[in-house]
Amino acid sequence: MKGIILHGGHGTRLRPLTHTGPKQLLPIANKPMSQYCIESIRDAGITDIAIIIGGLGSNKVRERYGNGEKFNVNITYIEQDEPRGIAHAIRLCKEFVNNEKFLVFLGDNIIQKSITDFVKNFNKSDYDATVLLCEVDNPSRFGIADVENKKIVKITEKPKKPTSNLAVTGIYLLTPLIFEVIDNLKPSWRNELEITDALDNLLKQNDNIGYETITDYWKDTGTPEDILNANRQVLEHICGTADAVFESNRHDKVSLDLTYRRPCIIGKNCEIDGSVSIGPNTSIGDDTIISADVVIENSIIMSGCKIDGGLNIKDSIVSANCHLHGNNKDKTKKIFLLGEGTKITL
Ligand code: G1P
Repeated sequence: MKGIILHGGHGTRLRPLTHTGPKQLLPIANKPMSQYCIESIRDAGITDIAIIIGGLGSNKVRERYGNGEKFNVNITYIEQDEPRGIAHAIRLCKEFVNNEKFLVFLGDNIIQKSITDFVKNFNKSDYDATVLLCEVDNPSRFGIADVENKKIVKITEKPKKPTSNLAVTGIYLLTPLIFEVIDNLKPSWRNELEITDALDNLLKQNDNIGYETITDYWKDTGTPEDILNANRQVLEHICGTADAVFESNRHDKVSLDLTYRRPCIIGKNCEIDGSVSIGPNTSIGDDTIISADVVIENSIIMSGCKIDGGLNIKDSIVSANCHLHGNNKDKTKKIFLLGEGTKITL
């Protein structure tokens, strides 16, 4: 079986975080989102993976994952000239797939549970495709499946009046039958070839699509709030009973004024010093220096940042190499959404 990760798109809803790179490389608990996909696919026994790249910062994806050796997989890169939809991206992989069953994972989807059983079940089955469904509160933001008597009867992309709250998540188990369907597909209102349209046509053709339900955590990280939510969830998982995960030797000066509130993660070579409180739900990237009266909660601070001078931060995402210098007199909580290299003095 082959694996495909979609890593393109402009990430407009996540600007300015995505001005300098693809959204799928944004870190969740100090690890790029798409790395979770690679590991998840690999752990399900699939080692031949194509990554579809396109748009800004594609070179960063190649730099990060290389030929896949470091992750014990073989990676092939396939370029998509413009974001023309998930089905279009999948169609580019026909040769790579080489008539096998395959798995498609959207690089901005985070799932807590292992996908091994889903893959095993699909391999044993005769289904043309299997989709993974998850109950959501806001169905009109997703592809939606209508299920009757344990069978999918219809799949619709972002319906205005949803008739079900079962989202079709961005993890698809497919057979090469999908390629022919995509060849006959028309672009949607957003001028994309929709995977949901392809699946619905396949359903009409053979009535042979299976589904599995994700009951644990799943998130499509389309907005900053989604990213903070995923960060919180993953930190909760990796911290276990500890307050914090330290990715290298601690460089903090153990003082009574330094607090880590569970759960949080501190990257490599960080210097944390002086009256500082980190967490809950906070990731601090590598090589970051935090000192002098700083509180950070429910936030992602990426690598190479410098934060000091009395600052109370919450619900923020701060990209790499930002310098934030606070104002000791102002104790109100600040919310930042900052692109790479921003400098702020309050
Ligand atoms: C895409 C799919 C949608 C699916 C979602 C899952 O939406 O079109 O059917 O439910 O991914 O992440 P998009 O992210 O393009 O809005």
